[in-house]
Amino acid sequence: MSAHGGADTAPVSRDEKTEHAVSDEGRTGVHSAGFTAEQIDTGRPHPARMYDYYLGGQDNYEVDRAAAERVIELLPDIRTAARENRGFLRRATRAVVGRGIRQIIDIGTGIPTSPNTHEVARATDPDVRVAYVDNDPIVSTYAGAKLINDGNAEFALADLRDPASILAHPAVTELIDLGRPVALMLVAILHFIDDADDPAGIVAALTEPLPPGSCLVLSHGTSDFHDPGRLRAVSDVYREATAALTLRPRARVLEFFDGFDLIDPPGLVQPPFWQPERPVPEDPVLHGLGFYCGVGVKR
Ligand SMILES: C[S@@+](CC[C@H](N)C(=O)[O-])C[C@H]1O[C@@H](n2cnc3c(N)ncnc32)[C@H](O)[C@@H]1O
Repeated sequence: MSAHGGADTAPVSRDEKTEHAVSDEGRTGVHSAGFTAEQIDTGRPHPARMYDYYLGGQDNYEVDRAAAERVIELLPDIRTAARENRGFLRRATRAVVGRGIRQIIDIGTGIPTSPNTHEVARATDPDVRVAYVDNDPIVSTYAGAKLINDGNAEFALADLRDPASILAHPAVTELIDLGRPVALMLVAILHFIDDADDPAGIVAALTEPLPPGSCLVLSHGTSDFHDPGRLRAVSDVYREATAALTLRPRARVLEFFDGFDLIDPPGLVQPPFWQPERPVPEDPVLHGLGFYCGVGVKR
């Protein structure tokens, strides 16, 4: 947990990892293009590996650390934001499983960070099914050992900008029954989708086939709490990475919940305030984190 002691004070424990990624070819349950360690791009920062660095992980390269350090210099609260976002992910996962949902599509999985979505969900019910999706080969290389090894889980190397390919992917079609409610998780990923790629259209395409009672678990970086000049400089750092950053104001984030009723309280709030397990300290850092998060239930 951050030095600021947020709402969810569980430490982000890291599994032991090898520095060198391995080929996932032949792994049961990993539906990918068979990337190898050699194909992992270490020449440009990757958002998944920068995020891993913010969280104190080891699965990042020099280029990621240098970019992440520039962001930390501009936004010293980014590490707290990342950890509070993980706290939201955990509490929201428990909440949707608590509502009876037993299938999850987690898009923008990230480099495995314990506890992962399936681990949190299965603390309530060991039979929860999870389809993980990410477009980063390094996430794919770890999926076999860290995400899908216990069964009832699959990984798809696929891109959010092509929602039809996600819904048609065997990792999703073989695991997820669209006749029953699903939790769709878009946690800290939509701000990597440019307006030109129609993020609202992408969310609509992914949620349209889900039955009523399905949940949308979403968090998103926002421009509402920080100096615009600093945020422009942060965007410049991400522009050199494999995915540019599009921070959005609250009203734009709210639009993604079209067709859903936000669980309210707490509604759309900053991560520490989403169903905190204990009172949130009066800490200006926690009150100024540049993320919104919410859980919606499909009408
Ligand atoms: C900041 S991490 C979030 C990880 C996790 N959801 C969490 O909140 O802890 C964002 C993840 O989204 C993935 N990502 C970014 N753009 C993507 C895209 N267009 N399609 C699929 N995954 C993408 C990155 O590779 C990265 O793993």
